[in-house]
Amino acid sequence: MNFPGVVEKLPPVPLDDVSTASSAETAPVAVPRYLEEVYTWAYLNPRNVALLDRPSVVNGLLFGNARRLTRAVMAEIGRGDRVLLPAHVYGNFVNKLAAYLGPSGELDVIDVAPVQVARCRRKVTGLPQVTVRLADAADPGGGPYDAVTCFFLLHEVPDGKKRAIIDGLLGSLEPRGKAVFVDYHRPHWWHPLRPVLGTVNACLEPFAKALWRHDIAEFASRPGDFTWSKRTYFGGLYQKVVARRG
Ligand SMILES: C[S@@+](CC[C@H](N)C(=O)[O-])C[C@H]1O[C@@H](n2cnc3c(N)ncnc32)[C@H](O)[C@@H]1O
Repeated sequence: MNFPGVVEKLPPVPLDDVSTASSAETAPVAVPRYLEEVYTWAYLNPRNVALLDRPSVVNGLLFGNARRLTRAVMAEIGRGDRVLLPAHVYGNFVNKLAAYLGPSGELDVIDVAPVQVARCRRKVTGLPQVTVRLADAADPGGGPYDAVTCFFLLHEVPDGKKRAIIDGLLGSLEPRGKAVFVDYHRPHWWHPLRPVLGTVNACLEPFAKALWRHDIAEFASRPGDFTWSKRTYFGGLYQKVVARRG
């Protein structure tokens, strides 16, 4: 992909930044095969990471809906909550969420890719309520949390991994905690972007179409332990699914 006019202002991220990780990272964390095979260009190549990790790119990829979807997440969580973000999100989502939670809140960001952990750590300098560590969302550790906010991760993982991640995240909630999933959804048949998304999925996002066919709740092993609600946005192209325990 070509991003004309994009100038990176930050120096390259040294990968050994992640060596300052917390003691919770003692178990080895492998970069999953799907990430290497499908998404190296977007998430593992340090040069492209630097190019893509900016609010304008995220907002463009979300067709101008970044702010709306970020607000939809925040509407579900309380200031001062202890929250898990199970994968780094490009742009300023992490900073906005941390600012919303405030100094009495806690935001624990994990990512399975060392380059993403290092990148995220640099963004949250000066925000003591944020920790960033290397972990797989299917086995997040660090719980229990008041809330988990899973932002556009599920469409990028194979279906078996969707199940493992959803179970791992639901299992890390407090007894009255909630998980918030924001991701792609099947657009209405009349949506002018439906054919565009269909082509993008066929070429670049092989695991996304499953979210057009299945509700997120269908991937959970024990859906009955949670109360589920779903709302769609932008002609059905995006969804917010909330799972409340109990
Ligand atoms: C949140 S998703 C996509 C977010 C969105 N496209 C954006 O604007 O950044 C991308 C991140 O998920 C991470 N990731 C992929 N599989 C993961 C897993 N199993 N556990 C934790 N992080 C994972 C990748 O390393 C990458 O940093």
